[in-house]
Amino acid sequence: MLDGFKYLSRYFPDSEQVALVNLVNGILAESPLYRPTMPRSGKPFSVQMTNCGALGWLSDKAGGYRYQSTHPETGRPWPKIPDKLLALWEDVADWPGNPEACLINYYAVGAKLGSHVDGDEVETRAPVVSVSLGDDAVFHVGGLKRGDPKTRIVLKSGDVLILGGESRLAYHGIDKVNEGTSELLQNTGRINLTLRRVTALDKKE
Ligand code: SIN
Ligand code: FE2
Repeated sequence: MLDGFKYLSRYFPDSEQVALVNLVNGILAESPLYRPTMPRSGKPFSVQMTNCGALGWLSDKAGGYRYQSTHPETGRPWPKIPDKLLALWEDVADWPGNPEACLINYYAVGAKLGSHVDGDEVETRAPVVSVSLGDDAVFHVGGLKRGDPKTRIVLKSGDVLILGGESRLAYHGIDKVNEGTSELLQNTGRINLTLRRVTALDKKE
C-alpha cells in the first residue's frame, strides 16, 4: 500500500454516526441527491450525489468532471460543511488549510463506483478524508497506475480513510455494498462523505 494511506477503523462511535446522519439529512433537504452522468457518453452513475462546501464535485455529459459552487439542478449554493466534519479534518488531515468541498455519495442497492483517481483538485498536497456511514462496502485501493495490485478493505459505518502523501493519487473505488449490514440509515444503503481541498493553499490562510 502506498505511503500516506490510513484506515481509522470506527473513528466515529455509534452516537456520533447518528449525529452525522442527522446533519447529512439536513443537507439533503436543502441540496437533494441527484444522479450524475458520465462525460461524453452521458451514461448515468449508479451512485447518487450531492455536496456541501464552497465547492462541489459533479459530472455531466456536457461539462464533464468539475467543481462548481452551485447545485446542478436547483442552481443554489451548496450548504456549509458542518463543524463536525471540519473538526475531523482538523484532527486527521495534517495539512495547514481548510477543506473546500465535501462530496456526499449515496449507494443504494447495487450501486458501485469504478476505479478512479481523485484528480480534479489543484491542491493535491492536501489529503482526501472519507467517512463511511450505513451498510458495509468493499473498497479497493491500488497504486498510481490502473493495473497496479489492489488491496481490498470492508469499510464499516464510522470508519475513516485518509488518502494522503503518495496515496493521494492512488486508484480506488467501491466494488459493492453489502445490503442490510447496518441499521444506521432509515433505508438500506451507504453514505460516503469525502472532504477535499480544491484550490491551491493561499499563504495568508
Ligand atoms: C469516492 O472515491 O469518491 C468514494 C469512495 C467511497 O465511497 O468510499
Ligand atoms: Fe474517489
